[in-house]
Amino acid sequence: FGQSVHYEKVVDSTQRIIKDLHRNKAAHGTIAVCEQQTNGRGRLNRPWQTEMGQNIMFSTLVKPDISLQLAPQMTLVASIAVAKTVEAVTGEQVSIKWPNDIYLNGKKIAGILTEVQAEANCVEMMVIGIGMNVNESKQSIEENDLSEKATSLSIETNRTYNRRDVLQQLLITFENEYERWLSVGFASMKTEWEERAHLYQKRVTVKNVNREQVGTMVGITDEGVLKLQDENGDVHLV
Ligand code: BTN
Repeated sequence: FGQSVHYEKVVDSTQRIIKDLHRNKAAHGTIAVCEQQTNGRGRLNRPWQTEMGQNIMFSTLVKPDISLQLAPQMTLVASIAVAKTVEAVTGEQVSIKWPNDIYLNGKKIAGILTEVQAEANCVEMMVIGIGMNVNESKQSIEENDLSEKATSLSIETNRTYNRRDVLQQLLITFENEYERWLSVGFASMKTEWEERAHLYQKRVTVKNVNREQVGTMVGITDEGVLKLQDENGDVHLV
């Protein structure tokens, strides 16, 4: 990933740029990266706001030859890559909150947004957007943070990071995990997700676009579907 890089200092959203580049026949692995977004978005259309020039924000154009049912696994694969990268650069253990948040010391450090375009039952392309708070200050996090408790790598570890180095490491790790996923399948990567599972064995509420489900988080299936257990011990797939 990142053989072709589209850089602009300020954009509305790198997700939009990748969709435009796709329309203009951009290649698999193209990335769009910026210093600041004026209309950055997260899951469920939540705003993603950050301080100018302090963080990592990019989107990748991915064109796997897979069926639509496998598409949600991509977010989990990207989560493993982000988690491993944060662990490598900080030396700290991180956790993954299903489906797309990365936590460090119990606070959100990064988020992933996956958008899929499919033709019939086949994935035509996916846009994987990753936002990671790197050198953002505590004050700015507090001003921008609208819902969840967020943090940055520098707040948690008391040092500043070279964003280019972190991004480079993230792209290499992401590509490795992606290739592994396509060659061996998600089932053999599942333990790497589960050993980092945030709120494992805890009672959780999962919000989707039109419903909420409550239960004890007991892991994910070989296909990457979340398992919630109810009071009777029955496991439901979310
Ligand atoms: C989430 O936490 O819900 C996902 C956040 C994803 C943010 C990234 S930043 C780069 C890319 N462009 C966007 O507009 N969103 C993603």
